[in-house]
Amino acid sequence: MPFFCGRFPFGLTRTHGVLLLIGLFLIVFQACGGANKTEEDCTHPSEMQPGKEPEPKPMARMMRAMYQQGEQMRKQIVAGEPISPEAYPLLNYHNQVPTDPSVLGSEFDQHHADFAKAWAELMNQPDTTHYNMMLQACVGCHQDHCPGPIKKIRKLSF
Ligand code: HEC
Repeated sequence: MPFFCGRFPFGLTRTHGVLLLIGLFLIVFQACGGANKTEEDCTHPSEMQPGKEPEPKPMARMMRAMYQQGEQMRKQIVAGEPISPEAYPLLNYHNQVPTDPSVLGSEFDQHHADFAKAWAELMNQPDTTHYNMMLQACVGCHQDHCPGPIKKIRKLSF
């Protein structure tokens, strides 16, 4: 008799068995989806409704823009093109509303100051060393406040 056609063990009917399998599938599916989510951003899963993602907060949107600046800069450094501070203004992310307001505070401000310094030094000397140091300052803040994107940020480095 092929698997699945007869009665399931422990007195379960076929319908029970099928529902059980669907349930298991959904659990595995949810768990994997959730893991990818935290990798990408720091929004709280508890605030999410199924099928409806919350609008990213202004700080998250600006962070995505900073990531794109990093990608673009990397390409220019590889191509040996000059990097002008006009093309890469330091974005005003630290005054924006974050997903989790508890990240804000003196520690965050200190990380921001370190990052702003690394950014200015990169603009003075746009080479791979200063570029990597700037990314290290991104990671420095992320280690305390938003570990999810660290792997992704590190991939930008030389
Ligand atoms: C002073 C702290 C700090 C610095 C510096 C910082 N970040 Fe962030 N980053 C955060 C916080 C906090 C969030 C979460 C924002 C939110 O969800 O509103 C975040 C979120 C992100 C995200 C996820 C955005 C999303 O899609 O939700 C990316 C990607 C990111 N940062 C990249 C970077 C890069 C690249 C740099 C450096 C060029 C950087 N960050 C520098 C604190 C920082």
